[in-house]
Amino acid sequence: MKHLVFLGAPGSGKGTQSSKLKQELGFHHVSTGDLLRKEIAAQSQLGKRVKSIMDAGQLVSDELVVELLKANIDLKKDQYIFDGYPRNLVQAKTLHEQILQGHDYTAIYFSVDTEKLVTRLTNRRVTKDGKHIYNLITNPPKVAGKCDVTGDPLIHRDDDKEEVIRNRMDVFTSTIEPVLKFYKDLGILKTLQADQNVEDVYESILKILKK
Ligand code: AP5
Repeated sequence: MKHLVFLGAPGSGKGTQSSKLKQELGFHHVSTGDLLRKEIAAQSQLGKRVKSIMDAGQLVSDELVVELLKANIDLKKDQYIFDGYPRNLVQAKTLHEQILQGHDYTAIYFSVDTEKLVTRLTNRRVTKDGKHIYNLITNPPKVAGKCDVTGDPLIHRDDDKEEVIRNRMDVFTSTIEPVLKFYKDLGILKTLQADQNVEDVYESILKILKK
């Protein structure tokens, strides 16, 4: 059973492709961003601690995120996509040594010009649980403001405001290189062009899975 680790800038399409792979190939999708937003929505102690950090586009502490992640996966049973984890070298090593040790996995990097991503993200609308993702320009819902599948209202994430997006991009560019090197040295890094359309990106992932 091969697990997947999705790496890429905010808006590079990790959640969109995870959702397709979940629907079509039965992967389980674990997104640390979704898990954190769930805590905020529930107004838990943890949610209260992380809200201002996420609203500013900064990273939540490594210790906190890994505990949340471990509590939400069962690698014995299911084949996972890790989306949004790891974000830095510490997290990449933790994932490799403490979570995926002895498991087969591939890291896939969604490479895209980050300037294009601001438009993608300011036009993103999602369901509250993050499971259904739309875009007002490239993939609008049939009825404005409502999810085609569940009918639930669509929201604009608090961190999808332009100034916060810029912060998130800066955090990403300052942390990603050592992560890519880590997976390259392990010989398990694949890179795909994420500025193709959604179907072509999906085909690129299927090709990687067949190898
Ligand atoms: P998180 O929720 O992980 O956000 P992110 O990594 O910034 O990624 P996004 O969800 O914004 O983008 P995506 O790549 O999934 O793109 P999507 O498919 O939606 O993290 C949020 C925050 O949580 C962080 O800032 C941090 O504070 C905290 N956090 C999370 N994990 C953490 C960790 N491990 N450690 C510490 N802190 C952590 O697509 C975007 C838009 O583009 C959509 O509208 C979509 O329809 C459209 N689109 C997708 N693909 C295409 C395409 N091929 N062509 C055209 N449009 C497309």
